[in-house]
Amino acid sequence: MPFSPCLFLFFLLVLPSTQPLEVVELRSECLNEAQLMDTLIRQNDYSKHKLPQKHGITVSVEFWIQEINTISEMTNDFELELYINEMWTDPNLRFSHLRACKANLTLDQQTLTKLWTPNTCFVNSKFAEIYESPFQNVFLTLFDNGTVWVNYRVHVKGPCNMDLEDFPMDTQSCRLNYQRYVLS
Ligand SMILES: *[C@@H]1O[C@H](CO)[C@@H](O)[C@H](O)[C@H]1NC(C)=O
Ligand SMILES: *[C@@H]1O[C@H](CO)[C@@H](O)[C@H](O)[C@H]1NC(C)=O
Repeated sequence: MPFSPCLFLFFLLVLPSTQPLEVVELRSECLNEAQLMDTLIRQNDYSKHKLPQKHGITVSVEFWIQEINTISEMTNDFELELYINEMWTDPNLRFSHLRACKANLTLDQQTLTKLWTPNTCFVNSKFAEIYESPFQNVFLTLFDNGTVWVNYRVHVKGPCNMDLEDFPMDTQSCRLNYQRYVLS
């Protein structure tokens, strides 16, 4: 029978530990989403009011405009539907050192309310809402390196003061200001 060096190594590694069975059992005891969030938030005294990184945090934002519904010269506004993608890294939410069942977690809107978020909004909008059907359209993924990825779909109505002097050869520009909303 040929001698297998791999098999030999395996025995060398396993034999000194008393019960190899126990090792297998421990590995299957991984933490699920709820247990992980409990560890990261409750046990670690996580505060959503504290900036995750002392010297400032970079949030990447991407907009995917799905549709521009209306542009109205009567009410001087426009409406659009868009997806907003925001991504940042919160070192307090890193869980690569914990025994997680998954490398990235899909979490619900309820969990998002417990985390620090950039708290962005369209400051000059006349109206803005997150789509609700069939449930609130917010998708939250947390990666084991602490990167948070939020995706949501919004319907927004913004002001657009139109100058129709050159109609029908006119060009209108409408502006939506998106920024972090800070209380105080
Ligand atoms: C999350 O992890 C799974 C494997 O655990 C992988 O298949 C999936 O592509 C990952 N998702 C993202 C958005 O990286
Ligand atoms: C964390 O992991 C995700 C998914 O693999 C990746 O997109 C992201 O850039 C990583 N973040 C950092 C800070 O390395």
